Order: sequence, then structure tokens, then C-alpha cells
Amino acid sequence: MIANMNQDDLKKQVAQAAKDEVLKRMPKGQYLGIGTGSTANWFIDLLAPHRDHFAGVVSSSLASTERLIKLGFHVVDANQLPEAVQAQTHPLPIYVDGADEIDPQGHMIKGGGGALTREKIIASMAKEFICICDESKQVNTLGQFPLPIEIIPLAESAVRQQLQPLGGKAVLRLNKSGKREGQAFLTDNGAWILDVHGLQIKDPIQMERDFNQIAGVICVGLFAQRKADLLLVGGKQGVGSITFS
Ligand code: 5RP
Repeated sequence: MIANMNQDDLKKQVAQAAKDEVLKRMPKGQYLGIGTGSTANWFIDLLAPHRDHFAGVVSSSLASTERLIKLGFHVVDANQLPEAVQAQTHPLPIYVDGADEIDPQGHMIKGGGGALTREKIIASMAKEFICICDESKQVNTLGQFPLPIEIIPLAESAVRQQLQPLGGKAVLRLNKSGKREGQAFLTDNGAWILDVHGLQIKDPIQMERDFNQIAGVICVGLFAQRKADLLLVGGKQGVGSITFS
């Protein structure tokens, strides 16, 4: 049975494990951060019967918010958390989200779904980042997955210029379908994404810093300074867990 599991089955399996972990770790009445993507969608669906366990959830994208609302979750804007909660160093005990790649230290590439900026903001508010993914996302060196960079549209040319010395080939993300097919993909923040292909990210922390320095860059999809604390990974042998120090 397990040998026949496809990638989606593995995502569902790991989302199930994350749901159990969150319910075990979080006392009733707190706020949970929830990410974006197909693995996060499984997590949302499986968590739905337990929505009243939480005072509310903070979502990292319009797509996740829509799904959460349909399933009856109380979705709270990050700025609308109660004052006493906002005043805490970590208003959210836990943030659960997927990744496009994760290395053996817990550094990640995220943003394949275009939600990198909000994901980074919510992750920064959380005490613990639980990354959930299937085993295909585990790599030794980040960079095979094109690194998403969210940019201010009018800065495209300037950003490309400044990216050159850092290596890789920047490609503007386009819509693959729908009314705006072939036009620039718009993030939830009304910005554009450059996907940088061909990087070998040997020092993710330094590269995150370098990319953050470029005028016109809103956010780089490298989660190195704020990496995962716990990885739950779905594989053919079941769900494994790695805690990062
Ligand atoms: C969205 C993300 C996702 O977490 C990442 O793309 C993984 O997605 P999936 O769970 O669909 O494989 O960063 O911006």
C-alpha cells in the first residue's frame, strides 16, 4: 500500500502528522499561523474539524484565507490580533507551511506559489516554524528549484542589473492560464516575481542578505535567517521528523 503512494498521498500523510503535532503542542485558545500551497491545503482541510481549538488563524495568502473561511475558521489579519497578543515577541506559537526545497540545516526555498512575502512575515511572528513537505523537497544544496524574488514592478530592469554579479538567470514569472495568460504574474501584494534559475546556494544566510540589499526587492524566497525549526517529511516509509538547532 505505502509503496503505491503518490506525491499527493505523501503530502496528505504529512499534513495529518502536522495536525496531530499542532493539537498536541498548542493549548486551546491561541492563534496559529498557516501557510500556502498544496501541502498547506491538506493541512487546512484536515485541521478544519478542530477549528474551534484556536482563537483564530493568521493566513499567508488570499488563497489560503479563502479556503480557511469556507471551512469555518476564524481568520484574523496579522494587524488585528488582540493587543496583548501582538505585544508578545512571538504572537503565534506555531507557523505551519510547506517548502519548495529544504536543506539539511533547515534553510528553505519558498515562494513557488507566489506567497513568499506574507509567508516570511507570518513566519517572523511565530515561535516555531513547522515545515511540512514530501521527501522530494529535501536537497543537500538549495538552488535547483528557481529562487523566487518578489519585486516592485518598475524596478524589474534595475533588479536584473544588480542580480547579474550574484549569478543565475532571472526569469519574470508569467501567468500560465486564465484571462491574464502570458502576462506578468501578480502577487497578493500587486507585485511581480523574478525566478532565478541555476543558483547553487552554498551560503543561504549570506545570499539572503545580499538579495535583500537590492533596491526594488520586496522579499527573497530564501528562508535562511528564519529557517524551519521542525521538519515533518512524508516518505514512502511514513512520516519522519527532524529538529533543527
Ligand atoms: C508558496 C510556497 C509553498 O509552501 C511551496 O511552493 C510548496 O508548495 P506545495 O506544498 O504545493 O508543494 O512557498 O508560496
